[in-house]
Amino acid sequence: MHRQLRTALVGLGRMGRIHAGNLAGRCPSAQLACVVDASPEAARRVAEELGVRWTTSYEDVLADGAVDAVAIATPTGSHAELSVQAAKAGKHVFCEKPLSLDRQAAVDTIEAVRATGVAFQVGFHRRFDPDWAAAAARMHAGELGQVHLFRTSLRDMTPPKAEFLGGSGGFFVDMTIHDLDTARWMVGEIVEVTAQGAVLTDPAIAEIGDLDTAVVLLRFENGALGVIDNSRAAGYGYECSTEVMGSRATVRIDNPHHRNYEWRTPGWSSRDLVRDFEQRYPYAYAEELEAFARCALQGTPPAVGGEDALAAFDLARAADLSWREGRTVRLTPLRTADGVRYETAVPDGR
Ligand SMILES: NC(=O)c1ccc[n+]([C@@H]2O[C@H](COP(=O)([O-])OP(=O)(O)OC[C@H]3O[C@@H](n4cnc5c(N)ncnc54)[C@H](O)[C@@H]3O)[C@@H](O)[C@H]2O)c1
Repeated sequence: MHRQLRTALVGLGRMGRIHAGNLAGRCPSAQLACVVDASPEAARRVAEELGVRWTTSYEDVLADGAVDAVAIATPTGSHAELSVQAAKAGKHVFCEKPLSLDRQAAVDTIEAVRATGVAFQVGFHRRFDPDWAAAAARMHAGELGQVHLFRTSLRDMTPPKAEFLGGSGGFFVDMTIHDLDTARWMVGEIVEVTAQGAVLTDPAIAEIGDLDTAVVLLRFENGALGVIDNSRAAGYGYECSTEVMGSRATVRIDNPHHRNYEWRTPGWSSRDLVRDFEQRYPYAYAEELEAFARCALQGTPPAVGGEDALAAFDLARAADLSWREGRTVRLTPLRTADGVRYETAVPDGR
């Protein structure tokens, strides 16, 4: 059997449990070495389900020579520190988005991890979904022609728990960041962001200064226009879909169904709708970890790394500033040897 990347998973909440199942059985190049959570009950439960070791001590995992890599799915505020500690211990790092709640910490993390030479991938799973990846590959090959319009919808069925929202970095940094990464990946760099936001479902969301509904307009460097719509509480289901219109073709990725049957009655037919990101992306979450493991084992750079995480974070902060100040925020994408960095007028700490 070929070598597998022995991966410890840290953080076993909504996202971590999906990664745990994938590492345990759906990634040929990876194996789940152990699971870690601050809560011993959570760690024991997942470990018993999957038949692996568990611990509450991250330090023990980093000192364990039988662990090659860590996958981090803890709350966002801990990502930067856990990533740097792992890289300094010689472990390859897969880290959920966003990299940090603080821009300088994100920059410092990218540089500290890069200095160690380990593989570093960030959790923008859409890039590994077969439908999105096929569409992007055909666009990048020029089959769509010149892009005119880009649209994405990302809508949760029900909002996450209040404790999650409080530490999430806010609507744009936590949620819109996926669409902003997709926009850069599919269409190119962005030079203008204009956002509108509202709280329409739960006043508790307004009390913590956050949003549940937003629309973000984009102007791309290549002249194309984009629109992103996001909701925390779509009610009917979870939606993640897109359309990109070009001069030679238009590509649409619709929301798939979870079940492959349709119920028909006179004059009416009904289909199921997916309820959450786990049902929406049965392949992407496994494939992103498989791709990470292959890169770590082969010493090749992951397809989506720290610089991409920072670029999407900067765009999300620009959207946040636009919403707060009621104005368009202009950005300058600067090409560096390591990727694209955005120069914005967003003050640090926002
Ligand atoms: N890529 C995606 O589609 C996607 C979807 C959901 C969440 N996320 C990201 O995943 C991360 C986790 O989100 P979630 O919804 O799973 O959160 P969650 O609150 O459901 O789970 C977090 C888990 O981490 C544990 N934890 C907290 N601090 C820890 C520490 N220092 N060490 C070990 N364990 C610790 C908690 O006990 C909990 O079990 C967030 O950064 C979020 O942005 C990504």
